[in-house]
Amino acid sequence: MIFDLIKNRRSIFPVQYNDKPIAKEAIVQLLEAANWAPTHKKTEPWRFKVMQGKSKEDLGIFLSTKYQVVEDKPKQVKIKKLMDNPARSAAVIVICMQRDLNGSVPEWEEVAAVAMAVQNMWLCCAELGIGCYWSSPGLIKYMDEFFDLADGEKCLGFLYMGYFDGDSPEGVRTPIADKVVWMD
Ligand SMILES: Cc1cc2nc3c(=O)[nH]c(=O)nc-3n(C[C@H](O)[C@H](O)[C@H](O)COP(=O)(O)O)c2cc1C
Repeated sequence: MIFDLIKNRRSIFPVQYNDKPIAKEAIVQLLEAANWAPTHKKTEPWRFKVMQGKSKEDLGIFLSTKYQVVEDKPKQVKIKKLMDNPARSAAVIVICMQRDLNGSVPEWEEVAAVAMAVQNMWLCCAELGIGCYWSSPGLIKYMDEFFDLADGEKCLGFLYMGYFDGDSPEGVRTPIADKVVWMD
């Protein structure tokens, strides 16, 4: 049931991933699902870079090195985590947004559409038993130094993913009733 899938989807972090590889077919399925997200004016602003193998290791090196350059007092734990996260993942899907160069819709609508595409992938991961989470460190503003980003293309984070052992953790939410106003 879609309702159960939505409720049971969780953020699963790289420390929880096992060594099982993710088949290319599964990643293609996820990307297909992303591509069916809704968009205003059909701009389809989601752009992805799928990183596996050495490219993934290079990403870890870039993130941990950059962190040490830009941070006054870099923390060892964080340096290690930035390096380990891509290394421990079976794949990293880099989440990018391509701004419509004609500005046909406000930028927030493009970001919202990309987020909907990511949610599609995240739900499909839950369905396939693949753990994943959207990581959005401050370092994403430097990603144009690592990738050859197109004009108007912005990195919005990383979808780290991998299979994991055991059950998904319990989710926590405050009641929806606290966030809704019903009007007659
Ligand atoms: C746009 C976005 C960015 C996020 N960035 C981070 C992040 O940088 N670090 C992190 O630990 N979790 C990040 N998350 C995951 C949230 O922490 C997580 O979704 C939230 O705690 C709820 O848990 P759940 O996904 O298991 O329901 C992000 C989620 C979204 C939607």
